[in-house]
Amino acid sequence: MGAFLVEGPHRLQGAVEINGAKNSALKLMAAALLGHGVFRLENVPRITDVHTMAGVLESLGAHVSFQDHSLVIKVNSLQGHTPEHLVKSMRASVQVMGPLLARLGWVEVALPGGCAIGRRPLDIHLSGLQRMGASIELNGERLLARAPWGLRGADITFRYPSVGATENIMMAAVLARGETVIRNAAREPEIADIQAFLNAMGARVEGAGTAVIRVRGVAELGSADHTVMPDRIEAGTYLLALLITGGEGSIFPVRPEHLSSLLNALRSMGAEIAVDGSRVTLASPRKLRSFGLVTRPYPGFPTDLQPQMAAAGTQAHGRSELRETVFDQRFGYLSELKKLGAVVKQKGQLVAIHGPVRLRGARLEAGDLRAGAALVLAALAAEGQSVVLGSQHIDRGYEGLEQKLSTLGARITRVE
Ligand code: UD1
Repeated sequence: MGAFLVEGPHRLQGAVEINGAKNSALKLMAAALLGHGVFRLENVPRITDVHTMAGVLESLGAHVSFQDHSLVIKVNSLQGHTPEHLVKSMRASVQVMGPLLARLGWVEVALPGGCAIGRRPLDIHLSGLQRMGASIELNGERLLARAPWGLRGADITFRYPSVGATENIMMAAVLARGETVIRNAAREPEIADIQAFLNAMGARVEGAGTAVIRVRGVAELGSADHTVMPDRIEAGTYLLALLITGGEGSIFPVRPEHLSSLLNALRSMGAEIAVDGSRVTLASPRKLRSFGLVTRPYPGFPTDLQPQMAAAGTQAHGRSELRETVFDQRFGYLSELKKLGAVVKQKGQLVAIHGPVRLRGARLEAGDLRAGAALVLAALAAEGQSVVLGSQHIDRGYEGLEQKLSTLGARITRVE
């Protein structure tokens, strides 16, 4: 297990470059399976989840090469058995289900793994595919979906706006007969990024970014090139790193409109925020105010920034509150924050954080990706040395975390 050694506290200052979005890149890679030919994705982050997805695509028969931040995918003939060890290590691999079912008429996937952040069922994905005429069979830990005569368009209302299910059904519908309407669809910006890519391949999708997505099926798709949108969660993580150390600096390039709920929260805590094109600059206040936040589907406050926000709460004056409504077990990192001296109380899905407290370095263990980022942030604000074990979780979603933080003046190194 790898780890980060962090020596704090140091006030961070400077500018950080933000990579392409993990949660878009992984789905764009899956979407390429719908087409034929050579695809070039630019601004792809160099993170382990992208390598895992590349392994999934290769096992299905695609060729993938990755240089700097350009990923080239060649798609000719494909097969539909997904490799168990890869799917289990990354939940986003279920996103190949929709494209393969649409293209091959069958797909077999192992039930996924991914972040340890609660129950993550697939019922919304599966009932959507069934509405489109697919039959689904569960054989132990493997799921077989079949549509030998092809998928047909359907009017589908989700019981909850699941991001993954919206993307899976949208991709499946692209090659289905007739029109598919997805109601109560997730509105995350990554979904609009995928829509743009699909349409560049020849699909007819509209409405991504709103709660109703319409897809008119086409017979075949070609290839396309696309530049991945900036990662709003990576961007938010660095803004919170600046804030927790009382620092100032900027992040770029980002789409500030994707960060609205976070920027509002930061302003209400007293931070000064300036937006200039694709750059956001933050200056920390002398006295950080407490906050009350509820995680919700986009455009609400993102669950993927909830742990980092809790870390920042340890430095805010008064009682901050966080309510998690998206995932049911996303507070596992609180026991680690307490080791640094954080004063937190959890009652079900509600957490109260009392601050400010003087954090002291400790040995911590990251249980998942965003929890790992939150522990690094807290360690940056803590006095003395901290060890954050579990760097492999952080590497799933952050390219060069230690280099970027070092550029801002942090003392952080990686150890094996
Ligand atoms: C995606 C993101 C993840 C983010 C999440 C919510 C990727 C790779 N991951 O995950 O970083 O935290 O969106 O913004 O893009 N659910 C069901 N049944 C389903 C599907 C989901 O009950 O069939 C539940 C989940 O258990 C969870 C909630 O819906 O409680 C949200 O899940 P979903 O929106 O599907 O998130 P993911 O696509 O897995």
